[in-house]
This record gives sequence, structure tokens and C-alpha cells, in this order.
Amino acid sequence: MKKIFINKEIAQLILLQRIDLASPLISRIRKLFGRKFFTKFVSKYLIIPSRIGQKYLEEMELEYKNISNFVNFENKNILSIGPGVGGLELIIDKYQKVKNFFIIDKNYISEKIIYGWDSTNSEAYNNLDLVGVFLKKNGVNEEKINLIDFDKDKLPIKDFDIIISLFSLDYHYSFDFYQDYFKKIINDKTIIIFDTVRPEYFEKLFSHVKIIKKFNDTVHKSSRIMCSKMR
Ligand SMILES: C[S@@+](CC[C@H](N)C(=O)[O-])C[C@H]1O[C@@H](n2cnc3c(N)ncnc32)[C@H](O)[C@@H]1O
Repeated sequence: MKKIFINKEIAQLILLQRIDLASPLISRIRKLFGRKFFTKFVSKYLIIPSRIGQKYLEEMELEYKNISNFVNFENKNILSIGPGVGGLELIIDKYQKVKNFFIIDKNYISEKIIYGWDSTNSEAYNNLDLVGVFLKKNGVNEEKINLIDFDKDKLPIKDFDIIISLFSLDYHYSFDFYQDYFKKIINDKTIIIFDTVRPEYFEKLFSHVKIIKKFNDTVHKSSRIMCSKMR
């Protein structure tokens, strides 16, 4: 995939979701003027959508390369938790024929995004309509896309093969918010991949836990883990 469809609103979401894509100038402005000004003004008006789109695509290709070493998405039902605009899902769809994408995210942008551990899970930066636009305009078949608002909709009860959550579940908010729900949808073969700041905690919850990537150079040191067989 060489070029993607992107507009200003989608580029803003991408920047809020992947703050590492900010140029050095934008990062400096964020430090100088604060997070509220950044969220409300800088991320909206001082961005170049095509540049953000291109960098996002490259980053998602790398994420896909890492994850596809461990799982095969072919013909699978996939549940994405907090996927942002869905760049990873777009790349998965480009390389493999999946059955369905079920996408759960929040549907608003917080006034001032902190990016730390959010014990109340009130922080959000997504817009589900735009996720739909981004995926469809970039060629994902509409029939495969199921968008679910975490705060308003009933969460889908289905046998999922793969659950994936990058820099969302247990990175910004506790796994507890999903634990009861997972008990209803996970079977012995379901694979769950997510980034966490406390990988050892999951040894108690799952029979199999494997670290598939480590992030030691980032502000929040974390591990990407692949789990199965919930106890
Ligand atoms: C740091 S972004 C990561 C986005 C994407 N996974 C990526 O790697 O680019 C965190 C995402 O989690 C979402 N989020 C926050 N709370 C959530 C919840 N309870 N359920 C699903 N998504 C949530 C945010 O709205 C945002 O889209």
C-alpha cells in the first residue's frame, strides 16, 4: 500500500493516538504550550495530513510484521480493543483474508489528553464514524467492519479467535475493565495480544503468556504479550 486516503480530522486522531508521529516542532510546541492547547489547536490546525498518513502507514506495517510472526489472521474473527482509526486492521486486511473485524473504542476526544495510567478510564481520543470512513475509503469491505462504542453499545458476544489491543488495554487503563466480558467470549483457542506495563501479573490470569516484544526506550516501559487459556 503506497498511499492512503486521509483527511485533516483523521490525521488529528492519528496524531493523538500515536503521539510519537509528531514532528520535533510539534512536540516542542506541545511541551511549551501544554496539552490542552495541543489537543484543541495544534493537533487540529498545525498538521500535514499526508505526512502523518504516510508515517502511520509505515509504523503499522512494522506492527503487522512483528505480530504476524506469532499469529495467522486468515479467516479469523478479530476483536480489536482501542485500535484508534484502525491502521493495523487496514494492513492486516491487505495481507490476509480475515472473516470479520469487531472494533471497540470510545467515541469522543478528551479536552486534555495525559497519556498516563487512567484509573477511571475516562480518557479517549477516537471517533467511530471516522474509523468507518478510514477503513472503507482505504478498501476494507464494509461488511467486515463492526464498530462498537464502549460506553454506549452492547459488547459483542461471539467466539473470537484473536483479540488485539495495542497501547490501549492495560497500557492506559486496567485489564479489569474487560475481564468479565472476556470470560464470556474467550475459548481455549483464543489468542489475546496486548501491551502492558505489568506482564508478570498475567501469569495468574492465563495458562500461557509469552512476551513477543519489549519497549524499553519509551516513557512507559512495557511489554507486548500474547496470552491464551484464561484461568
Ligand atoms: C494510545 S491509543 C492507541 C491506538 C491504537 N491501538 C494504536 O496503536 O495506534 C489508545 C486508544 O484506546 C482507546 N480507548 C480508551 N479506553 C478504551 C476502552 N475502554 N475500550 C476501548 N478503547 C479504549 C482510545 O480512545 C484510543 O483510541
